[in-house]
Amino acid sequence: MRVEDIEHTAVIGAGVMGHALAQVFAQSGYEVALMDIDRDVLRWAEGQIQRNVELLREEDLTDLTVKDVLNSIYFTTSQREAARKADFILESVTENMKVKREVISKLEYQAPKHTIFATNTSGLSVTEISEATRSPERVVGCHWWNPPYIMPLVEVIQGENTSPETVQATHGFLKTLGKEPIDVKKEVPGFIWNRLQIAVIREALHLLEEGVASVKDIDRAVKKGYALRSLVVGPFETMDLSSLNLFRAVSANLNPNLSNASEPSRLFEEKIKRGELGVAAGRGFYDYAGRSREEVIRERDRQLMALIKYLGLMP
Ligand SMILES: NC(=O)c1ccc[n+]([C@@H]2O[C@H](COP(=O)([O-])OP(=O)(O)OC[C@H]3O[C@@H](n4cnc5c(N)ncnc54)[C@H](O)[C@@H]3O)[C@@H](O)[C@H]2O)c1
Repeated sequence: MRVEDIEHTAVIGAGVMGHALAQVFAQSGYEVALMDIDRDVLRWAEGQIQRNVELLREEDLTDLTVKDVLNSIYFTTSQREAARKADFILESVTENMKVKREVISKLEYQAPKHTIFATNTSGLSVTEISEATRSPERVVGCHWWNPPYIMPLVEVIQGENTSPETVQATHGFLKTLGKEPIDVKKEVPGFIWNRLQIAVIREALHLLEEGVASVKDIDRAVKKGYALRSLVVGPFETMDLSSLNLFRAVSANLNPNLSNASEPSRLFEEKIKRGELGVAAGRGFYDYAGRSREEVIRERDRQLMALIKYLGLMP
């Protein structure tokens, strides 16, 4: 399969990620079939795509109209119909091995013989998913950052069976979408992004549990400190800039003091018991009284768009 031959695409699962993935494909001129087993989700997805494109237009990040984008998306509850002509299929169904294996094993019979099957799993084994088919060499991990219509990176995970041709065509396809692939050459739980994210979250919770600083100050230390400078220099560049002697000494001193917890923090349990589940519940680590989840997400997306526009990272 060559990238030039990709014309028709499909996204299976139209939830939080799937609807926006179909939008990204459509924005780049691909025909997309967006499939979900739940008709209500498809209706919701259409409304979400409309709002996302309007937001992109308000921020001068696209010239496309809502109509342009929706014209390229075919909403369906039939997997057979979605797969029939698709050269590239991205599954973004519920994070459950059984469900993903069932979906992909059927797709193999419903799609053309050359089709690439990508999985948006956040951490399940791509190899295990691929082995639900008789063509595991055509299965590749394609893990997107949320929200996918703004974030520029996509992790491309090579399962044990993924062929180099599949990886190459996936790279090429992502580039036509204006996305930057990051290669995960060896399949490990959480790939790269989630391992780094959870390492920071584990230590943030540890600092909070130990009473070292407030939620707000820990967030500020990341946003206006570590994350801000990390936009310019990554961890390896940071070590090179100081000196490896220094970082060796700091690591020797700090490593024994960092959290190495293998269980989730007890703070999760306490908050969950009180119903403080996050924005959707009106309270999590912060109080969101009177602000809907939708509103908070829009505000985050506006800020991200402004930043990405400034950095020139938008396709
Ligand atoms: N939410 C995130 O931030 C995020 C980020 C990166 C990757 N992911 C991954 O993306 C995938 C989807 O996550 P989500 O957050 O969009 O979940 P979600 O629950 O919002 O959406 C999943 C959708 O799949 C549909 N579905 C379930 N079984 C199906 C089937 N057999 N055929 C068709 N549709 C089916 C459900 O109806 C639902 O609409 C997961 O693998 C997840 O790990 C999520």
